[in-house]
Amino acid sequence: MVEHKATNITWHEGVVSKSDREKLLNQKGVTIWFTGLSASGKSTLAREVERILYHQNHLVYVLDGDNIRHGLNKNLGFSPADREENIRRIGEVSHLFTDAGVIVLTAFISPYKTDRDKVRALMNPGEFIEVYVDCPLEVCEKRDPKGLFKKARAGEIKEFTGISAPYEAPDAPEIHLNTAQQSLAECAITVIKYLEAQGIITETYKNPYSKEDEEIISNRLADLGYV
Ligand code: ADX
Repeated sequence: MVEHKATNITWHEGVVSKSDREKLLNQKGVTIWFTGLSASGKSTLAREVERILYHQNHLVYVLDGDNIRHGLNKNLGFSPADREENIRRIGEVSHLFTDAGVIVLTAFISPYKTDRDKVRALMNPGEFIEVYVDCPLEVCEKRDPKGLFKKARAGEIKEFTGISAPYEAPDAPEIHLNTAQQSLAECAITVIKYLEAQGIITETYKNPYSKEDEEIISNRLADLGYV
């Protein structure tokens, strides 16, 4: 639990509301929260959904574990308490961006259910969309794009999620994907279709995968060591 140290502070509401900003942007502000093991495909998928939505004139922003740990959360490690604080801060940032009307995509392992549920509780109903990026440990370990599973098995990295630290899968995610069985395109389209069905975006989704797109995607996946 984080101590609330500030006293004598007052919340100020502006005259411009979230729904005003949403009208301006022609979209609803939401947080799409990707959770799953390292190498399950969270960041790759978040970046792909970002690419598609951007090309449909939407304002999207990705918050990614590895990137945020270079700046805002550089003082946090991987103990349970540090992971909790990592997710708490990201939850607050996501909440602000969501209020700004942005479609936020977060890619954090976020291994603890209670931490994810606390983020959900910050938002209004429908604003927090939990996406379980499911992928068997063996497959993640085989992909091992950063060589971290190897190091964790050798005992060089302590408290590594899936090896020596827990991962608690969501019980009732809004979207459940399996990246060992579904292609990147399939997973991305599932997310986009969900956003349409919920009225978060209104354009009728057109297949954004041209021949060139397919090539870009397969090259990118090959670079990452996924194929
Ligand atoms: S979280 O558990 O606090 O949500 P987060 O998503 O921010 O984790 O960071 C995970 C990334 O940090 C992994 O993709 C990996 O590159 C790196 N990492 C380094 N050490 C660990 C570790 N002990 N456990 C998991 N990931 C680690």
